[in-house]
Amino acid sequence: MTTAAASSVSQYSQDELKTLVGQAALKYVVAGSIVGVGTGSTVNKFIDALAAIKDSIPGAVSSSVASTERLTALGIKVFDANEVQRLAVYIDGADEIDGQGFMVKGGGAALTREKIVAALADRFVCIADESKRVDVLGAFPLPVEVIPMAAGQIARRFEALGGQAQIRMKDGAPLVTDNGQHILDVRGLKIADPLAFESEVNQWPGVVTIGVFAHQKAAVCLLGTAQGVQTLEY
Ligand code: 5RP
Repeated sequence: MTTAAASSVSQYSQDELKTLVGQAALKYVVAGSIVGVGTGSTVNKFIDALAAIKDSIPGAVSSSVASTERLTALGIKVFDANEVQRLAVYIDGADEIDGQGFMVKGGGAALTREKIVAALADRFVCIADESKRVDVLGAFPLPVEVIPMAAGQIARRFEALGGQAQIRMKDGAPLVTDNGQHILDVRGLKIADPLAFESEVNQWPGVVTIGVFAHQKAAVCLLGTAQGVQTLEY
């Protein structure tokens, strides 16, 4: 289903599209319920919008240190994931989303906590600009969080599948995630069967989390387009 929710004939900048979808996500926040909050530049727009209705919710469960800091700075209480049994909704961005609501995530290195919080939620609402919409996952390098001592063997497994895996670097050293692990970014994959691929890679020794979100796919995508926000339901 597609619904125009903003009206303009003009083009929006990518930043404006992120703002539009961040604001549009507010209507999925359930008053009186804790909301699950993802990570990234699009989610930052959602967090900023959430501040305006913060008195209507008890708070949030956050998927990263960065989002926790932003939520807290805006006066939104952050609950530990272990304090919560279910969330009505989890709102997060994506690096890619296909026509079934399957996603690649982890460009911001927060994929493990994102998957944990998403798994608590009844509904995943993805917020993204239209550059993220793909037919087949794999154009964006696939992030995989790994235990550092297993990085080499995991990279070789991806190479056997036709991918090229590289450790993500930051300031001249391997990036260290909020969980103290490393990220492999894998280029050159076409992920034709996201459910099977996620299951397969998840059981390789040393893989913490693969950035394919197929088992925790989006139920809704608020897609920022030149015509405004489109609501895609899966
Ligand atoms: C972080 C993520 C983000 O949701 C993803 O990278 C999209 O980020 P942005 O909204 O900045 O484009 O998965 O780990």
